[in-house]
Amino acid sequence: MKHSIKVNINGQLYLEEVETSMTLLQFIRDKVGLTGTKSGCENGECGACTVIMNGNPVRSCIILAVEADGAEIITVEGLGEKDKLHPLQQSFIETGAAQCGFCTPGMLMAGKALLDKKKNPSNEDITEALGGHLCRCTGYKSISKAVEVALSKNNRN
Ligand code: FES
Ligand code: FES
Repeated sequence: MKHSIKVNINGQLYLEEVETSMTLLQFIRDKVGLTGTKSGCENGECGACTVIMNGNPVRSCIILAVEADGAEIITVEGLGEKDKLHPLQQSFIETGAAQCGFCTPGMLMAGKALLDKKKNPSNEDITEALGGHLCRCTGYKSISKAVEVALSKNNRN
């Protein structure tokens, strides 16, 4: 069965027909063509597919596209621009927090959701925000460090 949905992604409105069973992750990648959001476990466990929906980080593989009808979504493509990276993207580069990069979009979106909500998050807040996001390459210290560096830059500006 098909449903019409209207979803704002990175400031652009998408009106599409979707199957009931289509996930938000499939919608973002396959219908809209934004492939920065990664598909990992497809079971809500790795965090690779995290996007921000109505201000909150969500795992798009366990949300149906129809549930996102009317929502505002930010994906990693909406985070910064080629010539003007988001502070988080810049700090991930500076601290070596990305290697293969597969987990990075999800980590970035979880970090952004945290920094949008809390001006001065504690180390515990950072750990909690990144909790459950799996990374096979970096160890997690450089990723937490990257969020701390972005935070200190934000607070200097
Ligand atoms: S792909 Fe969604 S949590 Fe792993
Ligand atoms: S950088 Fe490779 S999985 Fe995290």
